[in-house]
Order: sequence, then structure tokens, then C-alpha cells
Amino acid sequence: MRKTKSRKLEHLEICAKKDVETGDTWLSDVSLVHNSLPEISLHGVSTEVRFLGKRLKAPIIITAMTGGVKKAEKINKALASVAEELGIGFGVGSQRAMLEDDSVAGTYMVRDVAPSALVLGNIGAAQLESYNALEIKKAMKAIGADAMCVHLNPAQEAAQAGGDVDFRGVIKNIAALARAVPVVAKEVGGGISREAAAELRNAGVKAVDVGGLGGTSWVRVDSIRARHASPFEEWGIPTAASIMECSPLLPTIATGGIRGGISVAKALALGADTAGMALPVLRWYSRGGAKAVRERLNQLIDELKVAMFLTGSATVAELQGTSVVITGKLREWADARGISTSHYGVRGIRW
Ligand SMILES: Cc1cc2nc3c(=O)[nH]c(=O)nc-3n(C[C@H](O)[C@H](O)[C@H](O)COP(=O)(O)O)c2cc1C
Repeated sequence: MRKTKSRKLEHLEICAKKDVETGDTWLSDVSLVHNSLPEISLHGVSTEVRFLGKRLKAPIIITAMTGGVKKAEKINKALASVAEELGIGFGVGSQRAMLEDDSVAGTYMVRDVAPSALVLGNIGAAQLESYNALEIKKAMKAIGADAMCVHLNPAQEAAQAGGDVDFRGVIKNIAALARAVPVVAKEVGGGISREAAAELRNAGVKAVDVGGLGGTSWVRVDSIRARHASPFEEWGIPTAASIMECSPLLPTIATGGIRGGISVAKALALGADTAGMALPVLRWYSRGGAKAVRERLNQLIDELKVAMFLTGSATVAELQGTSVVITGKLREWADARGISTSHYGVRGIRW
């Protein structure tokens, strides 16, 4: 347990200070078609969406980062209170520490500062072998979360000395949990394929967080800890490709290298329902506290609104139906994977 705590602190430290981003999201292969006749007012653009049963004022989620240590309590409360204020979602970090030691449960509690925000709990797929669905449900209810994220991190586990590399039975365990609580299946840098999304949908999962390649790499974080580079630091499905793989099958959170309002707009136009970010939020927080997080997120939401205006999209649903041109590696990927891109090109023609 002590080992989990010191590893968590080390992760926060490394992520705040070192170069932990690898690969490419391929969002640069996505162009939104500019509309010189938007026929809407920028002031009338609405970023509101409903996601996992909650209304969000903007389709943004601060995704899982921390919990289990004293420092985490302060971070979780600060970020969750900004989420409440801006009407966006917030995810706590892995609740493994509180399943192992109930006395740290308070470090995940945010409902006092975020009574109405979408709050997501978090557990690793590997922990579903040790804790049954009722125990996980109890951990989710204890923090008042709306759904439980199950993180899938086989690349990180494989790159780690002594990692949990036995993933047998993972889908059966996810299905058992999905019968007890709403589940979001979440990658952390490797992306989710269409095949995996189909299995997750059949298992009763409510949404996926693609956690694609191009943002924080957990393989890289662990390489830094081990002082030993790994050839798998750029392994995975780039975020843009994973959105195209998953979004026809399940409500989709686009995470992994989302760094500004235009990337959020591109992710939504590709088919995602919301976009998530972790690393930038941690860095804004460590440099300027909650105030900086609020300012930067407000700026990002303003950028999203301008991108919506410039595509003539008054709502997120309209943005999801806007014309998108897909080029380069992303197009080659889609062709090789049999993912149709014809509906993206011309406004009004969507599946
Ligand atoms: C410091 C830090 C801690 C994280 N801890 C968790 C975690 O406990 N559980 C989880 O599912 N994801 C965790 N993540 C992954 C993020 O939620 C996210 O999926 C990933 O970092 C990709 O997004 P990004 O490129 O915006 O950072 C963590 C990320 C960071 C930066």
C-alpha cells in the first residue's frame, strides 16, 4: 500500500515536470471546413451537451489523475470545484488506494465542492480480479460518482517491471461490473479499437474514453521512473483514429493529447461526444492553482465556440455533423480499417 502511495506521488511529480508526451494524435490530418456564411451569431453558440445522464455546459471532462495521498485531496477538490463552476465533468484517479485502505477515502471526496458536476470514479481493470462488483459499487457510491471508469492499461503494465500482465477474464469482469453500475471503459494512451469497442458494448459498457496515442504516455512515465527508455513509448492507436473506430459504436470521450479548443472541435466533428484532458490541467494547476485552471479552461471553451461559429455550428450536434476533410495517415488508417469517411466530407450527409 505504501508502495502505491509513493508511486502515485512520483507519477504526479514526473507528469508535472518531465516530457511525458509521445506520438501524434493525427488530429493535424483533420480539417474543419471553414464557413464564410455561418448564418449564426457567435454569442448564440451553445456548447451544452448531455452525457452519461448529466447536463454539461461544455463537452469537456478533466479526466482521472489522482487520489489516495494527502496532496491528491487538495488537487481533486480544486479541480472538481472548477468543474462545478464551469459545468464540465471531473474524474478522480484510481480508487485502488481506498479499496486497500478505507482511511484514504476522503482524498477522493469532491461532492462537497461539486454537488452537481458529472463525477467519474476510477479503477484499474486488473483490480476487478481482486474486488467484486459490489465492492467497486460501494467505492463509487462512497464518493457519489455518477459512473465508474475502468482503466485499461496493458501497454503500461507490460512495460513495467512486475506489472499486472494477466488480462485473462477482463471482459467478463467488466461485464459483471456493468451489471452493477454505469461503466466507462478508459484507455490511458493506447487508444481503443473498433473490435474492442464492440466487445465493450456487448459487455454493457455505457461509454468509452479512447485515451489515444499523442498525449501523456504511461509507458514513457514508467520509463522515466525506471531510467530506461522503452521501445513501446509510441505504441498505440492515435486519438483521432480511435475516435473514428469507437464513436459509431458507443458514446465517446476523446482523450489523449487534446490541447486546445480547436482540437476539441475536431474530435467532436470526427464523432466524439465529449473531450477529456489530464496533463495540461495538472500543469496549469501546479503553476497557478485553481485560478489558472479556470482561466485556461474558459479560454479553451471560448476557442471551441469560435471554431463552432466558423463552421456554422450553433450546437454540438451541428458540429458533429459539420464537413470534415480527412487526409494523410488518418485517411490511410481509415481506408485500411474499412472505416467509411465519405459521410464526413459534405455537410448534411451523415450516418
Ligand atoms: C498525473 C496523471 C495521473 C493519472 N492517473 C490516472 C488514473 O489514476 N486512472 C486513469 O484511468 N487514468 C489516469 N491518468 C490518465 C488520464 O486520465 C488520461 O487518460 C491520459 O493522461 C491522456 O490524456 P492527456 O494526454 O490529456 O494527459 C493520469 C494522467 C496523469 C497526467
